[in-house]
This record gives sequence, structure tokens and C-alpha cells, in this order.
Amino acid sequence: MRSTSFEAMWKDLAALGRDPRTGGYRRYAWTPALRACESWFTDEAGRRGLTLEADGNGNAVAWWRPGPLRLEGGVITGSHLDSVPDGGAYDGPLGVVSALAAVDVLCERGVRPSRPLGIAVFIEEEGARFGLSCLGSRLMTGALAADQANLLRDADGTQLPEAVAAMGLEPRFGPSLDLLCDPVAFVELHIEQGRALADVDAPVGLATGIWPHGRWRFTFTGEANHAGTTRMADRRDPMLTYAMTALAANKRARLAETGTGEGSGARATFGRVEVAPNGVNAIAGTVTAWLDARAADETALQSLVDDIMRQAHDRAARDGTTLAVVAESVTPAVAFDERLRARLVRRLGDLPMLPTQAGHDAGILATAGVPAAMLFVRNPTGVSHSPTEYADPADCLAGVHALADALEELLT
Ligand code: GLV
Ligand code: MN
Ligand code: MN
Repeated sequence: MRSTSFEAMWKDLAALGRDPRTGGYRRYAWTPALRACESWFTDEAGRRGLTLEADGNGNAVAWWRPGPLRLEGGVITGSHLDSVPDGGAYDGPLGVVSALAAVDVLCERGVRPSRPLGIAVFIEEEGARFGLSCLGSRLMTGALAADQANLLRDADGTQLPEAVAAMGLEPRFGPSLDLLCDPVAFVELHIEQGRALADVDAPVGLATGIWPHGRWRFTFTGEANHAGTTRMADRRDPMLTYAMTALAANKRARLAETGTGEGSGARATFGRVEVAPNGVNAIAGTVTAWLDARAADETALQSLVDDIMRQAHDRAARDGTTLAVVAESVTPAVAFDERLRARLVRRLGDLPMLPTQAGHDAGILATAGVPAAMLFVRNPTGVSHSPTEYADPADCLAGVHALADALEELLT
């Protein structure tokens, strides 16, 4: 591949869905910003003569099938184009752009595949709009039922089917693994979202698995009242219960940081909060806050969340508030396919191996029984889900070539 193929695609995509005030991306599912990215993908697929197919969930696949290949036993690569609020350029799009560039490499090498190669783009991987991460791959694999998806609402109260229809599309949710045509392997390339590769000075690594993780909605309810005239002793302020809970969650996860490896410890974050009525001179009536929690194994995750909930309830009793907690999603641990990884190691050499704390469509597919692997590209600062997320262009090209090698191994 001429490096210009990657660079030109990267440049075209860079402008789409970017907020000039923050420099971050707001590519939310079923919005014009993400539709622009999807059109870009359609154009790039068309330029390469790839055949585009879509399911009724919002996922798409572009097939590379030179010669008279039957459409079964596909090798799948790709990632997602949607972002978190004010996300970076790489989380998701790097896997899609690298997949297209890898096809260019395979063409230049004159590779004659014995299987079809599909470049998949999954919808709403981040769950930034409808609250459930990997929505597209969960629907595709049947991990999320259509009637549950129909009930999802975004922060403005728009129901998922209405949002899809508003884009001129027909919502037809349901299992759609046949879109991937009996896949024999899924290899997702992704920017690393920590500093493990930087620490060992390697441009590319292989994932071993994904930590179990989930999202819990905490609703703290008190009594809305006047900020000036309500005596301190008379308040039932849910903001206090929330604030103490956020501190307790942070402390509990830090205390779990035993060991030093990437596979140890725990994470707990309140990154989104909604306050009603949200007035400067009013004691809040309700605070809704979302806990994102992750740990190295499922027992550790359960004990982390149980401890945080217990401390929140204890504090609510002292504040005269009440608390309701709903698990919005819990994703079990994923161990990527060892035979597939061993095959990639034979072809790519001894790459660093690392677990990840981030969720991915590859994890959802792996849980559904598709042999899956992930390649990570070095992130020098480790920063992700932020406009400052970055990968060096030379490392991106190393990622493209590693992906092309992996795909060539699986296709021939
Ligand atoms: C996805 O990036 C997640 O792990 O939240
Ligand atoms: Mn992400
Ligand atoms: Mn991602």
C-alpha cells in the first residue's frame, strides 16, 4: 500500500462530525454526523469495487471477493465509526481505515484469497446515544432482543425506532449474523487505550481478552427546595449522597489496585450525571448518575459494585434520601480464541500480549462463538475517549501491515 492511501482516507474522515469548539468528535448513531462517516465508507468501498451489504440493525459489511468465491466462511475485519461525546479520531475509525488500507496492501501483493473478506462497520459501539455499548453487535448476535432495543431512549427521550426512521431508514432489529456469512474469524484492529505498548516500546500488540464491565444507573432522590431559606439541618439533598458515592467508588477501585500488571486492579467511574431541576439556587430533587465499573474477573466486579451500592445506601439513610440502582448493561469477561491468536503469532511474530479494560464488538462476537482476535496500535500517552487521543502515523502503518499479514494468513 502506498502510505498515501491511508493518509488520504484519514484526512477525508478527519473533518466529519468534529466539533470545532472542542476539537472532539460527536459521531452519534443515527445522526447526520455519523451518516456522513457512513457515506464516506460507502464511497471508499465503491472505489475498491467492494460489495456493500447492510442488516436492519444499522451494521454494514463491504465484501472483497475477487474471483468466483462463494459467500461463506468469511474472514471479517473492521470496527466502528461512532464516538463518545468529544471523542478522539482513532477509537473505531482506525480499525475501519486500516481495514480498507489492508485490502489495498493485499491487492498490491497480488493475493488470491480462497475466502471472502468482509470489512464490517458496527453501529453504536460506544453506546453514546442510547446508553448500551456495542448495540449493533449485540443485536446482530441476538445478545440484545429487538423488543428490548425498541424501548431504548436517548437523552432527549427519542425512542430508538424513531431515531432510525428519522434518518429515512427502516428499523428491522433482530439477529443478523448471516450478514457476516458464517465467519471463520473476526480480527479487529484498534488503537490501544492504555500505555502498555508504549511501556514495552512496541508499535503493535495482540489482545488476550476483555475485562468484565458494565454500566449501572444510580437515581438519588431527595427534596427540591430553596438554597437560601432551607436550614442546613432540614435538607434532604441527593447531591450529597451522589458526591459521597462518587468518592467512595473511586476509593474502592483504588484499593483494588493490587499487583502491577495490566490484568490487575479495578476501575470505577461516574462520568455522566443529570441533576433536576439543575438550578444554582435550588437544592436538587433528583440526581441520576451512571457508574461505569470494570475489574479483572467477574467476582471482583460484583464485589466492587456491591460495595459501592452498600456505601451509597448507608449514606442515603444519613442524608434522608433514597436510592434506586438499575444495571443497564453487564458484559462478561472475554477470552479471545487461543488457536486464532497462536496462528497470528506464527505469522506476525512474537507480539506483546495484553488484556484490555475497554469493551469492543470483537468481544460480543467472541461471546457469540465467532473466533475473534484484536490487534492494538500503540498509543504513546494512553489517552482515549478524548480529543487528544493519538497514534503516530508510522505506528498506524505498522498496524495496517500487521492487519494485512493477519488477513493474508487467514484468507489463503
Ligand atoms: C468502549 O470504548 C468502552 O469500553 O467503553
Ligand atoms: Mn471507545
Ligand atoms: Mn472502540
